[in-house]
Amino acid sequence: MKESLANTALHAQLSATALLERSRDLCMPRLREAVSRLASPMDMVAAYHFGWTDRHGKPTIGDGGKMVRPALAALSAQAVGGDPAAGSLGGVAVELVHNFSLLHDDFMDGDQIRRNRATAWTVFNPTLAILTGDALLMLASEVLLNSPAHSTSLHDRARAAQRLTTASRRLIDGQASDLSFEHRDRITIQNCLEMEGKKTGALLACASAVGAVLAGADDATADALGRYGHHLGLAFQAVDDVLGIWSDPEVTGKPRWGDLRRRKKSLPVCAALAEGGTASQRLADLLAATHNGDHEDEQQLAEQASLIEAAGGRAWAEGEARRQHDKAIAGLDEVTMPEGVRASFVTLAEFVVNRKR
Ligand code: IPE
Ligand code: IPE
Ligand code: MG
Ligand code: MG
Repeated sequence: MKESLANTALHAQLSATALLERSRDLCMPRLREAVSRLASPMDMVAAYHFGWTDRHGKPTIGDGGKMVRPALAALSAQAVGGDPAAGSLGGVAVELVHNFSLLHDDFMDGDQIRRNRATAWTVFNPTLAILTGDALLMLASEVLLNSPAHSTSLHDRARAAQRLTTASRRLIDGQASDLSFEHRDRITIQNCLEMEGKKTGALLACASAVGAVLAGADDATADALGRYGHHLGLAFQAVDDVLGIWSDPEVTGKPRWGDLRRRKKSLPVCAALAEGGTASQRLADLLAATHNGDHEDEQQLAEQASLIEAAGGRAWAEGEARRQHDKAIAGLDEVTMPEGVRASFVTLAEFVVNRKR
């Protein structure tokens, strides 16, 4: 059943839901096996974070994330004639890095809710959440380099690990910029795009290339697929920035206005500040008068959201998501691949810009 679903992607159009479900099915056994290697209590913190158990370690079925990155990794292998299962090895590694970044990010951003559940640092404690994140990051390399008995050569796994370590380092660079921007009043759109290209684009680029590498493709082909992932990552983060201000927290599973509360210089904010009109000036004045740690009341945050929208920040970020989406799709033309695989990359890109969570 799963085999036939995997092969269908080559010939027929799968929905985004089917592509994401397929990647979940392909990755879950390996992901669980990898996490089971962690020592106690990090195994329990990770299982909670992934939605497999409640805070007491009792099995549950929680939201473990959309699995966008593993879906890209599976397609990336198929793009060069490989097996989606080979790509999913890379997908598991990328998903481990992604979840390392979330465990750390929630503590660094002071966020108490993710995937509609209390974040790990609030349920356990910050030290354990950080350590568990560290462990997931190390597991990612271990999965790529030490996995026993499968068909991918050690040479290709080392190439994949090289890409993943560089992407992880760039993600951390981006996270450092994101945090430092909280303390600055004005960040240009260009600064913001550079930061988001690192914190989110680097890992989506890696996800889109890693399957091809594991399937034995050359670096030029993997780089071309990586360019699709980079632009998709920028679209992904532009959407995330918009959802963080104008979405229903019940749907995103994340708190509304968390970014505003932390004075994040997200794309809508940077675009609104760059516009320079009355609403833009008022926003700049409000930001200059607030500091992290100030507990702005909801009314002030609502005013910031309206000013950003009035200054065109929302429309600009939504437009940017679409522009980056278009660049991602144009990048696909650089690689000759089966039509069904190309269609699936297009489907995932459409999902990314239209998603509500
Ligand atoms: C959230 O990523 C962090 C960002 C890079 C914006 P996702 O939205 O992919 O998170 P999950 O895994 O689906 O929860
Ligand atoms: C996403 O960070 C990227 C990383 C975690 C490195 P954000 O802080 O923008 O993502 P959310 O909104 O908390 O998921
Ligand atoms: Mg963050
Ligand atoms: Mg965050």
